[in-house]
This record gives sequence, structure tokens and C-alpha cells, in this order.
Amino acid sequence: MGIIRNIYILYSIDLSVLCCALLLPGLRELTTTCSQDYLKNVLKDMSPKATTMDLSNKIPCQPQNLDFSPFPKLKVLILSHNRIQHLNMDIFRFNKELEYLDLSYNNLSNISCYSLLSLKHFDLSFNDFDNIPICQEFDSMSQMEFLGLSGAQIRKSDLQKVAHLQLSTFFLGLNHLSYYEEGSLTVLNTERLHIVLPENADYRFILCDGIHTSKTLEMANVSRDQFTSYGSQKNPLLESPKYPKTSHLLLSNIHVPWQEFVEIMQFVWHSSVQQLQVQNLIIGAQSDLKSRLFNYSSTSMKALKVEHVTVRTYSFRQDIVYLFFTKMDIANLTISDGGMPHVVFPKYPTKFQYLNFANNALTDELFLNTLQLPYLKTFILQRNKLETLSTVSSFATKTSLVHLDLSQNLLQYADGKDCYWPETLSTMNLSSNKFTGSVFQCIPKSIQVLDLCNNDIRTIPREIENLKALWELNIASNSLTDLPGCENFQRLSVLNIEMNSIISPSLDFFQTCQEIKSLKAGGNPFRCACDLRNFINLEKKSQGLMIGWPDAYTCEFPLELKGILLENVDLPELSCNTPLLIAVILIVGLIWTVIMAMLCIRLDLLWYLRMIVQWTRAQHRSRNVPLEELKRTIQFHAFISYNEGDSLWVKNELIPNLEKEDSSILLCLHERHFIPGKSIVENIINCIEKSYKSIFVLSSNFVQSEWCHYELYFAHHKLFHEGSNNLILILLEPIPQYIIPTRYHKLKSLMAQRTYLEWPKEKNKHGLFWANLRAAISINLSESGKMNSSQTISEL
Ligand SMILES: *[C@@H]1O[C@H](CO)[C@@H](O)[C@H](O)[C@H]1NC(C)=O
Ligand SMILES: *[C@@H]1O[C@H](CO)[C@@H](O)[C@H](O)[C@H]1NC(C)=O
Ligand SMILES: *[C@@H]1O[C@H](CO)[C@@H](O)[C@H](O)[C@H]1NC(C)=O
Ligand SMILES: *[C@@H]1O[C@H](CO)[C@@H](O)[C@H](O)[C@H]1NC(C)=O
Ligand SMILES: *[C@@H]1O[C@H](CO)[C@@H](O)[C@H](O)[C@H]1NC(C)=O
Ligand SMILES: *[C@@H]1O[C@H](CO)[C@@H](O)[C@H](O)[C@H]1NC(C)=O
Repeated sequence: MGIIRNIYILYSIDLSVLCCALLLPGLRELTTTCSQDYLKNVLKDMSPKATTMDLSNKIPCQPQNLDFSPFPKLKVLILSHNRIQHLNMDIFRFNKELEYLDLSYNNLSNISCYSLLSLKHFDLSFNDFDNIPICQEFDSMSQMEFLGLSGAQIRKSDLQKVAHLQLSTFFLGLNHLSYYEEGSLTVLNTERLHIVLPENADYRFILCDGIHTSKTLEMANVSRDQFTSYGSQKNPLLESPKYPKTSHLLLSNIHVPWQEFVEIMQFVWHSSVQQLQVQNLIIGAQSDLKSRLFNYSSTSMKALKVEHVTVRTYSFRQDIVYLFFTKMDIANLTISDGGMPHVVFPKYPTKFQYLNFANNALTDELFLNTLQLPYLKTFILQRNKLETLSTVSSFATKTSLVHLDLSQNLLQYADGKDCYWPETLSTMNLSSNKFTGSVFQCIPKSIQVLDLCNNDIRTIPREIENLKALWELNIASNSLTDLPGCENFQRLSVLNIEMNSIISPSLDFFQTCQEIKSLKAGGNPFRCACDLRNFINLEKKSQGLMIGWPDAYTCEFPLELKGILLENVDLPELSCNTPLLIAVILIVGLIWTVIMAMLCIRLDLLWYLRMIVQWTRAQHRSRNVPLEELKRTIQFHAFISYNEGDSLWVKNELIPNLEKEDSSILLCLHERHFIPGKSIVENIINCIEKSYKSIFVLSSNFVQSEWCHYELYFAHHKLFHEGSNNLILILLEPIPQYIIPTRYHKLKSLMAQRTYLEWPKEKNKHGLFWANLRAAISINLSESGKMNSSQTISEL
């Protein structure tokens, strides 16, 4: 034995089960026992402070000495889907705070109880109990809200022991059911009774008792194998319930012959049930639809919801089934996900207010017979095969329809026929169809909420009726290229236009849609250019207006901005606003002109410019003169001629400045260099011919008294022909034209050409004046010049 245990410890559970089953088939009881080490291993990662512990699918064996005392804080413990066969609940005696204990889906057949005072949720469903396990200790567990049990045999006397517990849910999860004592469930005291039956169990007494037990009843796996019969026992469903309690009944996984389903419905019809939900209904193959007549009189039923219907019968008279439901004439009827190609209504007006035939295969044919639904407010035809909107509208005139869901069909509005909608219609869901812009001609004026998403709308026509009541419009996932204007939807406040083809929203929207409070426009291929600024500013102006901002709004064009968030795109006011741009350019130009003008006036800019031009010309010329030739004849840099009246200026300004820095400049002055005995003119000519330049200091005096000496000479002498460079005139003061005698042609022409230097009155300009003058006369007279000058001086 010890060896076997050691092997078990060393190998995994499955292996040990296999090997021991092979070696020692008689010791099955032992081999499915978990070792201490195994359990320790499972629990070793758990913190002692753990409040929740999920050990489902972790203990594939019968635990021995399972110990939860190291976890005193434990509140939730899940031990479901294990192989526990018996359990002594006193292992939880140190877990005083335990509230939730799930032992479902084990192999429990024997349990010894322990009073857990805080326990609220206790689940023993789907175990192998023969009888429902009831402990004395339940008496004290008054906190209990959920109690889940199981047992192959259900007896009233057993359930009686929990009858005093005020439960919110009593759950019976049954693997097997071999005996059910009539009336057992009715002793329970619970809000909700939930029963999952084993396959092919006799559900009838349980359903009957359940309806007499709780407000809410849920039963799963209501099925009968076509080959089993209930024998000669009386059928409880054929009698009307006496004191029913259930108002909400949910039956799921119903697989019974049609007649039996009708029987169930008849039983429920005359009970207290107000809402019946049938999920996963399979109408069996052996169904005989010629069932007994259904008694439609007096019911509490208000809403029937049949979801997911499968028909497994070959000779299936559809009309009988459709009429079976539509004749019920209750407020709410849902038959969804049933593949119904058609529905037939009784020929008289019915009281339906809410009809939901979603996810079937209904076609336009539904509306070819007149439907009389005067009280109908909501009609849901989502996911069918309807095609023509005008045909669909034909049933609606005489209804009080408020909400119509035609989404996910094949609908179009192309025939241009009139549509007939009641004035009450306020919500339409036309999403996921094949509509184009023309659908707006078939929308009632009263519409408030319109869903047209996922269609084929390219434009919204302008000539549609005013939809004055419309405040929410969804045109997402269409092919619109622009935001719609609100001329026709003056109260529009919620607009969804994401996933369209909007490149650049036009101004129309911003001007007409004043009431918009929420705009969803992401997922469009925006072109991030100036046109988009209005749009981007919309969010900046009123924050929260754009749903999905900023993440859903990205540029698509131009390519270099692709993927950039609109929020981060920089479109400056200046580059986008043409009038502003022109205005700015004009203003800048004007300011520049004014500044220039002021500079000219203030600082004689023009004078400076002229001086600089002359100076550069002089520089240029002095370089071009054939030096060799000059050097042969010339001894002086300049000859200076002036009137006695200006001698003060000449001696104090001109000469010192010309001779200043550069002592090599030689000047010919008539008082220095005039040769006595010769006439003035001869002297002048002699001086002029030996000088590189001739400087005349012009003033009124000079013109009147000195110029006469030169006029004749200049007129005949080649050296001073027009444009000659050898002459430098300095204008000491302005000389009015009338002062110049008419016979002085040369002077007049020189003055007219303005080929003179003006002596500036302002001191700050003098520097430039002198520099200019020096540049004009400067020439290198080095060896020959120096020699000549010394000769001249010695001659003198
Ligand atoms: C334990 O229960 C499971 C399912 O509930 C069942 O398949 C299995 O045979 C049971 N094992 C024993 C030893 O009863
Ligand atoms: C339940 O199990 C305990 C111990 O495992 C045993 O003493 C007791 O007899 C069992 N009771 C039944 C009804 O099998
Ligand atoms: C019985 O009901 C449960 C819960 O609704 C479901 O999981 C199970 O598949 C059903 N069994 C059958 C045979 O329909
Ligand atoms: C229909 O059911 C009502 C109420 O249960 C009953 O009064 C009436 O007699 C029934 N009619 C027929 C024809 O069985
Ligand atoms: C019937 O349907 C309407 C609309 O969905 C709903 O408001 C109402 O609660 C339903 N009535 C019942 C009894 O289910
Ligand atoms: C329209 O129906 C679709 C499903 O077909 C749904 O997703 C959408 O929310 C509905 N629109 C409105 C406004 O209820």
C-alpha cells in the first residue's frame, strides 16, 4: 500500500488513476483520493489574506483533510467542476467570513453539514446526491440568498426543511431525475426558481408546481424524446392552474412535439404569467399540427418573446403556426431569429402594440394583404428581406406607429411612389439597406430620429420636404462628399456623418446648422488645406461638439499630411485669408515707402547716393587712365581756381582737407604757383595743363568775376570737351540760373548736366564730400611726379 501511495505522489493524477486501475482494480476508492502533498501544492501559491479562491477544475480527486484554516479571510470559494465525492463541511469552521461557496459539478453523494452563519450563496447543484441534501444546520443560515441543490429524488418532506429560508433564488441543477413528488416545489419560499432538467425528464409536474411557487420561473431543457411516453398518468398541464404566482416565465431549450408545445402554452395562457420568453424552440419531427383548438379567452399574458425557432418537421403548415401566435393578440409579440418567410395575421383588427420579427426571412409579401394593426406603436423588422420602402409604408397609414426599425434589409426607394406614414411616426431605423438620396422623399414630416447609416447616399437632395421635427440624423458610412446643410432640417442637433467621403466641408453647413450640439464626423478623408479651417475652428469654438475628437479626425490629403490629426494641423490665418494677406502686403509696402521717404528727407539719402556714385565712378576712371602718358606731362594732382571772396573757405577747408592725410597730394594754387610777368590766362592755362584735375570753386562771385577767363579757353580746348573728366566743379552755394550771363555757354551746359559737387551745409556729410574729392584727384605721381614737382619748385 505504501508503495502504491508513493507512486501516486510521484506521478500525475491521471497516470496514477490509469496505472492503479490496471494493477489494482479493487482499490478504486483509494486511487481517486488526492494526496496531502497534491493539495498542499494546489494551495501553496495562495496568500493567507486571500478573500477569493477559485479552485474549479483543480481537484480531480477526492481530497483528504482539505484544510482552509490558513485562509481566515476567505469570502468566496469556488470548488466547482472537481471530483469531490464526500465532504465534511466542518473544514470551513475557521472561515467565519465565508459568503460564497460553490460546490457544483462535483461527484458529491454525501455531505455532512456545518453551520456557516455568513453564507449567502451555497451551490450544491449538479452533484450525485440521491436525495436532496438537507441539513439541520440550514435552520441557522438565515443569510442565505441563493441555494443550489441537486438530487435524483425530490421529495416534499426534504424541501420542507428549507421552506423557512427567504431566498432570492432557489436553483435545482439536476443530472438525473428519477422521482418527483407532486407539490414538492410549492413549499419553497423564493423570488426566483431556476430549474435545469436532465434530458427527457418529465417536466410537466415541475412546470405546474413551479408556476405555483415563485414570481420568476426559469426552466431549461424542457424536452421529450419522441419515443418516451408519459404513460397513463394524468397530465397536470390540462388543468388550469389554481393559485399561480409566476408573472415572468422563461423556458429555454424546448424540444417537444408541436401539440405538446401548444399544451404548455395553453397552461401558461391561463396562468398568471405576464411575460413569457421561449428560447431555442425546436418543433419536433413527429409534430401533428392538427392539435386541439387553443382557448384564447381570458389571459394575463402581455408579452410573448419567442427567440430562435427551429422547425424539424416535414409537413409543416406554416399558416397554422403563424396564426397560433398572431391570434394571441397581446400587447407585445416577438418572434425573432426563426427563419420565418412570412407571417399571417387574423382578418380582424388586433391589439398588438409592439411587434418584433427581427432576423427572419420576411419579404414585401407581408404587406400585400391588408394588416389591421391600429394600436401598433413599434414595429421591428430588422434583418429580413424587404425590398421596397413604398410597399412597406402601405400598412402604416392606419396605425399609430411611433418607432419603425427596417434596418439590415434590402430596401430601396426608387419607384417614386407615394409613401403613407402616420403622423405619429417619429423614429425610423433605415440603416444597412440600399437607399440613395431619393429616400428623403419617403420620410414623414413628423420624423425626429432618423438612422440612415450604411446605405448608398451620395447627396441629400435640396428639393425635399422640410423635416422640421428631425433632431437626430445618422448618415454614417455612406458616400456623401459634403456635410449637409440644414435648410431642410432646421432643428437638427445631433448629426452623425462619420465614414463618408467628405474631403472639405462647405460653408453651407456652418451657416445653416445653428442648432447642432453634437457632430460625429470622424473617419472622413479630410484634405487639410485652408478650406478646412472653419471645420477645425468649430471644435475650438464649442468644445465637446465633435464626438471622437481628436483621435477620429485625421488628414487624408495632401499626402505629406496623411494620418496627422486635424487638431495638430497648422493652417495660419494669414496664409489662408487672401484679403487679409493683400491688406498686410499693402500696409507693409506703405510703411516701407513712408520710412524711405522720411529717410530721404531727413538724412538726404539721395545726396549720399549721388556722392557714392560719383566716388565709385572716379575710382573706376582713375584706374582706366593710361598712366604712362599722364605721368609725362603732369606735375600736380589738381589746380584750384577760386574767387577771392571764397578764399577763406579754400584755405581753411579745401586745402587742409585735400592735403591732410596724404602729403603726396600736390595742388597748383594761383597765389603759390603763378608766374609773374605772364598774363592771368597764360598762368591759368599753364597750371591747368600741368594738373591732373582742375577744381573750380563755384559761387556767385566766381561766376561773375573769374569764369570769363575760362569760358573762351574751354570753348576751344580739347582737354575740356563735353563729358571730360578733368573738370571738377564745387558748388559752394546755390547759383540761380539768371546770375549766369548768357554768353557762358560752357558753364550753362555744365550746370545743366549737374556735373558738380555740392558743398553740404551739414557737418556730418563733410567726411564723405572730402573722401569723394580726394578719390577724384588721387593719382600716383610717384617718381616722375615728385621729380617734376621739385623741379617746378626750384624753378619758382
Ligand atoms: C462524476 O461526475 C461526472 C459528471 O458529473 C461523471 O461523468 C462521472 O462518472 C462521475 N464519477 C463518479 C466516480 O461518479
Ligand atoms: C456519509 O459519509 C460518512 C463518512 O464518509 C459516512 O459515515 C456516512 O455513513 C455516509 N452516509 C451515507 C448516507 O452514505
Ligand atoms: C440544458 O440546459 C443547460 C443550461 O441552459 C444547457 O447548458 C444544456 O446544454 C442543456 N442540455 C440540453 C441537452 O439541452
Ligand atoms: C376557455 O377558457 C376559459 C377560461 O379558462 C373558460 O372559461 C372557457 O370555458 C374556455 N372555453 C372553452 C371553449 O373551453
Ligand atoms: C412591450 O414593449 C414595450 C416596448 O419595447 C416595452 O416598453 C414594454 O415594457 C413591453 N411590455 C412588456 C409587458 O414586456
Ligand atoms: C438601428 O439599427 C441598428 C442595427 O440594425 C442599430 O445598431 C442602431 O443602433 C439602430 N439605430 C437607432 C437610432 O436605434
